Amino acid sequence: MLFDSVISTRRSIRGYRPDPVPLTVIREILTLAMRVPSSYNSQPYHFHVLTGDMLDRIRSESVASIVAGSPDAREFRAGQPYAGVHRERQIGVAKQLFAAMGIARDDTARRDDWVLRGFRQFDAPVCIIITYDRQLHDNDDAAFDCGAVATMLVHAAWSRGLGSVINSQGIMQSPVVRRHAAIPDDQVIMKSIALGWPDEAFAANAVVSERRTVDEAASFIGFDD
Ligand SMILES: Cc1cc2nc3c(=O)[nH]c(=O)nc-3n(C[C@H](O)[C@H](O)[C@H](O)COP(=O)(O)O)c2cc1C
Repeated sequence: MLFDSVISTRRSIRGYRPDPVPLTVIREILTLAMRVPSSYNSQPYHFHVLTGDMLDRIRSESVASIVAGSPDAREFRAGQPYAGVHRERQIGVAKQLFAAMGIARDDTARRDDWVLRGFRQFDAPVCIIITYDRQLHDNDDAAFDCGAVATMLVHAAWSRGLGSVINSQGIMQSPVVRRHAAIPDDQVIMKSIALGWPDEAFAANAVVSERRTVDEAASFIGFDD
């Protein structure tokens, strides 16, 4: 696919076919993603690529733990809940997704089910946990570099026909993920990426989320025109 077309057609995929993803394709995607720039070429990230029974155990134990009332146990700083324009944009995309799925505002059962789906890594056949080296825990560049490589990864995947969604839901119970995936203590869990072949019949997969215009997001300083 042409670069522009990969960027402009990619969208987050939240419904997957169960078919496995060949390891060779995953290696190819990671190889491409790792061409991304990083601070001083530090490449602080690590990928824990999970599939099969072990991933299913993470899903079921995470969901059981959340349903039982366990608090958010993510390892990155999430800050305060979004407010103002950020909250408006959060609600905006949620409305688009619920409309596509035909989930009504007062349908709490289906809404709850939708949230649990996120905690189950959207039932994707593969999940990539991105961690970074703990010795950089107080360095914001490490988080920046993880974001950069994750972005590159989802586009590399899309160029191969694979869907994905970067998500925080799948690592809500990070100790569960850490234990099952044997993530070493010198790694901090930053984000998860659900990955697999898109289910074309899953309505939310067609949602194209909104963006601000360039003029709303950018200031141009010192230009003549
Ligand atoms: C850091 C980050 C965390 C995210 N966490 C979630 C999540 O927990 N659940 C979810 O459904 N989508 C999650 N997303 C996907 C965003 O909702 C999505 O990227 C955004 O709405 C724009 O839509 P698009 O990816 O289809 O362009 C996350 C994306 C990023 C970059």
